[in-house]
Amino acid sequence: MKIDQSLYQKYNKPTPRYTSYPPANYFNDVTDYASIIQAIKASNDEAPQNISIYIHIPFCGQLCHYCGCNTLITNNQTLIDNYIDTLLKEIDLLKPLLNADRKISQIHWGGGTPNFLPIEAIQKIMHKLYDNFETIPQAEIAMECHPAHLTKTYVDELVQLGFNRLSFGIQDFNEQVLETVNRQKPLLPIADIIAHIKTYPQISLNLDFIYGLPFQNLKDYTQTMNRAVALSPDRLAVFSYAHVPWIKKQQKTLEKFGLPSAEEKIGLFEKAYEILTGSQYVPIGLDHFAKPQDELSKALKTKQLHRNFQGYCTLDTTGQVYALGVSGISQLTSAYLQNTKSITKYIKSIEAGVFPIEKYYFVNDQEKLIRDIIERIMCNMYVDFNQVAQAHHISVADVYKITAVNFETLQTFKSEGLLHFQNHILELSRKGQFFMRNIAASFDPNMKNNQKNFSKAL
Ligand SMILES: C[S@@+](CC[C@H](N)C(=O)[O-])C[C@H]1O[C@@H](n2cnc3c(N)ncnc32)[C@H](O)[C@@H]1O
Ligand code: SF4
Repeated sequence: MKIDQSLYQKYNKPTPRYTSYPPANYFNDVTDYASIIQAIKASNDEAPQNISIYIHIPFCGQLCHYCGCNTLITNNQTLIDNYIDTLLKEIDLLKPLLNADRKISQIHWGGGTPNFLPIEAIQKIMHKLYDNFETIPQAEIAMECHPAHLTKTYVDELVQLGFNRLSFGIQDFNEQVLETVNRQKPLLPIADIIAHIKTYPQISLNLDFIYGLPFQNLKDYTQTMNRAVALSPDRLAVFSYAHVPWIKKQQKTLEKFGLPSAEEKIGLFEKAYEILTGSQYVPIGLDHFAKPQDELSKALKTKQLHRNFQGYCTLDTTGQVYALGVSGISQLTSAYLQNTKSITKYIKSIEAGVFPIEKYYFVNDQEKLIRDIIERIMCNMYVDFNQVAQAHHISVADVYKITAVNFETLQTFKSEGLLHFQNHILELSRKGQFFMRNIAASFDPNMKNNQKNFSKAL
């Protein structure tokens, strides 16, 4: 699909990614610890009842220069062992606060690079969780993996532990791009490790790619995407490179090689979109693609798609997210709670029996309404405002009032062919999908006088 360059220019401005609402840069410093404990306890009485566990492993073998994640490059085995022991203690701290009848529906290992850890460390933590919590029968057990540290035996051990979702960071197949961004090479040929994974039918495989890196061009990226399709993963994520050197200093290194222009970057995504949709992958949200028979594609069809910090999921498996580990963000129905980003503080705090939560945000009813609308846009590209009004027990007129949406802006989106809006139903067009962050932002009253710094929308 070719999109008018002038639209890209108009809408390529700093805009939240809306992995949460309000976004993380609105979180406050914790001053009242008792209210944080109260928020965790209160989550027991809120929907969804299921528990999602997020485990953050910050360790990586080498720093990729583009990386926007919370990472620590280390080979310090004592520190790593200490960190694992601390995670076990954090589970001990959390367990008594959660009602015993609540079950785990998701466990997500993110990072950093969780598979940088020896398998024994993963086993210790998984057994601790299984010993302390019940899981639902179809629980999603996922890990973000770097192919540089992945052996077939490691995959076998993960399967033994119940893992049924693996995601590989590929980023690009082009050697020059990978070397420039300081990316470690895979341990085994990607095709071999994927062939091994495919011997386990219960595993859903995702591959991550990025566009917008130095030396990426249309010809080579076409090859990368064709190679990706040939590997036939269940899902692919094609992320727009978020360049935020004021937060991630090492990203500055990439500027000396020259980053693709906004126009070139869009060309790369359009090419990826064309190849993936041409191979039957269904576009999901902003940057994900899934096979038609994948649960995400089915959930999109029935407008049951959901999203949290870990990515897209279905409403069946989603739970309130309780995060373990440094920098992890718990996503409860009425609160966001973020652990410290300092590993030293994290270990010390847990040793003292205190949750290392440094930032928080308590979400009020009006913000829940806005969050609901933004999530419907970002996931299902469809909002029935009558349904929203009913779900939040207010009138449709009040829904519009709370979001402070400007109907002229909606009219402009409509005249640009980005959405349909009639009888209180908003539906994004195919073209509008590319601008969903901008459309979502039009329902965010915080964006009216926004002083915060976000990465660009496209
Ligand atoms: C935690 S990493 C995945 C696991 C492992 N560390 C790896 O790199 O293979 C999460 C993903 O975030 C994406 N990512 C990291 N930094 C990014 C950035 N600045 N902009 C867009 N995507 C980024 C990459 O695609 C990466 O695969
Ligand atoms: S992209 Fe992955 S491997 Fe690279 S530094 Fe970030 S988290 Fe670590």
